[in-house]
Amino acid sequence: MRQLTARQKPNRALLPATQKWRQNKRRWPGLFVSFEGGEGAGKSSLIASLYDFLTGEGLEVIATREPGGTPLGEQIRECLLNPNDGITLTARAELCLFLAARAQHIDEVITPALEAGKVVLCDRFNDSTIAYQGVGRGLGLDYVKQLCTLICEGVTPDLTFYLDVAPEVGLHRVSKGGRGSALDRIESETLAFHERIRKGFYQIAAKEKERVHIIDAHQNREEVLEQVLEVVKQRLPKPIQ
Ligand SMILES: Nc1ncnc2c1ncn2[C@@H]1O[C@H](COP(=O)(O)OP(=O)(O)OP(=O)(O)O)[C@@H](O)[C@H]1O
Ligand SMILES: [Mg+2]
Repeated sequence: MRQLTARQKPNRALLPATQKWRQNKRRWPGLFVSFEGGEGAGKSSLIASLYDFLTGEGLEVIATREPGGTPLGEQIRECLLNPNDGITLTARAELCLFLAARAQHIDEVITPALEAGKVVLCDRFNDSTIAYQGVGRGLGLDYVKQLCTLICEGVTPDLTFYLDVAPEVGLHRVSKGGRGSALDRIESETLAFHERIRKGFYQIAAKEKERVHIIDAHQNREEVLEQVLEVVKQRLPKPIQ
């Protein structure tokens, strides 16, 4: 039987169209925006407001989240955030689950939407994995970043908003915010863990100033939305006022 080796190059003629443009490093007609930040920074509320605003302007928009965004991804989310009793995830297994959910999400949801010219609003993406698993869990920022780069095959955000909030403020919002459920496995980590993550996000933002916009998420929701819209409006596939 023919042995496949890891170094074997794919035959480009056999690749589906999406993988061809990934190899050509061509970007897409849509706009890929990710929202990052610690627990309770306001990512989900902001995405909901942006979604309403942009669809109101006649744009085609999808709002999606990680881990999740696909039926498989949502199952993986449950394993990650609320694992069954007796299951203790190791740091590397946790990382692989996030990446598996991401691969499925890219292929099933994100790439088709970007190719169709849609605006994709994604609640967390690679930067969360780098900050949480790379810095928070101590697997190493560069190690996790390299794995993310390999898995995403060029499908990475055009624009990222990092909502910066002090962990104690964010966690207080989550616990008092009326979400009606107990803190999940990651939210329940120590304050020191959440502080490491914030530093991780700062490191990422410092390295990629063009892509990552830091937003002070201690401001009220209206101020946060206004600052984000100011940037997003410059980058939309179809201009609005
Ligand atoms: N700028 C803000 N000021 C005060 N409270 C806010 C602000 N933005 C969001 N909140 C409130 O804080 C709580 C958490 O917000 P939200 O769920 O949007 O955060 P998140 O970043 O998505 O959190 P998680 O990491 O848990 O998904 C909610 O009750 C929300 O209404
Ligand atoms: Mg949220």
